[in-house]
Amino acid sequence: MQIYHIPWINTPVRTVLAIWHQLTKTEIPELAKCSVLMRERSRVEETIHAMQRAGAGNLQVISDFDMTLTRFAHNGKRVPTTHNILDNRLLINEDCTKKIRALLNTYYPIEIDPSRSAEEKLPLMVEWWTKVHELLIEQRIRKDMLAQAVKESSAMLRDGYKVFFDHLAEQRIPLLIFSAGVGDVLEEVIQQNHVFHPNVHIISNYMDFDQTGVLRAFKGQLIHTFNKREGALSHAAGLTELQGRPNVLLLGDSLGDLTMADGVSEHENILTIGFLNDQVEERKESYINSFDIVLVKDETMDVPNAVLRHITSSGNGK
Ligand code: TMP
Ligand code: MG
Repeated sequence: MQIYHIPWINTPVRTVLAIWHQLTKTEIPELAKCSVLMRERSRVEETIHAMQRAGAGNLQVISDFDMTLTRFAHNGKRVPTTHNILDNRLLINEDCTKKIRALLNTYYPIEIDPSRSAEEKLPLMVEWWTKVHELLIEQRIRKDMLAQAVKESSAMLRDGYKVFFDHLAEQRIPLLIFSAGVGDVLEEVIQQNHVFHPNVHIISNYMDFDQTGVLRAFKGQLIHTFNKREGALSHAAGLTELQGRPNVLLLGDSLGDLTMADGVSEHENILTIGFLNDQVEERKESYINSFDIVLVKDETMDVPNAVLRHITSSGNGK
């Protein structure tokens, strides 16, 4: 175009064209929400389009649970994680409550501290989880009381959770929930919300009860926020329902959650969505550098739902 040869007009024209291109390309309006941050918007759009072309039959969803599928806060109050749901007199005494809260106050700030590396955090997380699990075992928690404790808790899935779970089930897309929380409690939460569909698979810390239904240990290798890679390689990689699905939508709220897809062999496209719930200013940069889409203080599933709707809107299926 002749106009490009006039130097002073070159930049403004290109800017206008770039803006126009972006405006006309917005097929997912939810991505324009002000809570959405993206390092490279064009890569996000290309990945979504590639996943859409491949269809629902090639997709799997891997999601963290606490503070990813569950809300971070509601009406200004923190929503309990699966561990914190156990903080109920039906299950543990007051002294144990105090000790578990003190541990949370010590270790949670370390978990989310942007100035410490994952390597530095790892042994401290093992320490936290081990201490809490030992305290829980001492309390001789009864299996038949868990459902009641979940009912009495203020556990809450994010707004739009039903659309998320139901849509994945309808489309027969496997959903792997990969949680460092307590598996038995997690199952009860999704059961009570009527979304424990057959396409849901869970990797988590499961309680081991004795014959009388009293907690005596936790099963298998401990999962904490910074060793999900090992769990992915040893457990997720073996799940037959996930085989042959090279496209992954990953949801998490911790940088450690990014390794949840490490067990997916021969993946083609991975799109990662990170909920930035807390310490926003301090962690924004590292989240933008690590997740493809960052959702800042967004308590809804609107963006994941919109992305899923788009990926499954046509394509060849399987
Ligand atoms: P997630 O992998 O499903 O997110 O679960 C791990 C979260 O649980 C992590 O962010 C820390 C939190 N947690 C507690 O809230 N209380 C505890 O006692 C422990 C050990 C972890
Ligand atoms: Mg989490």
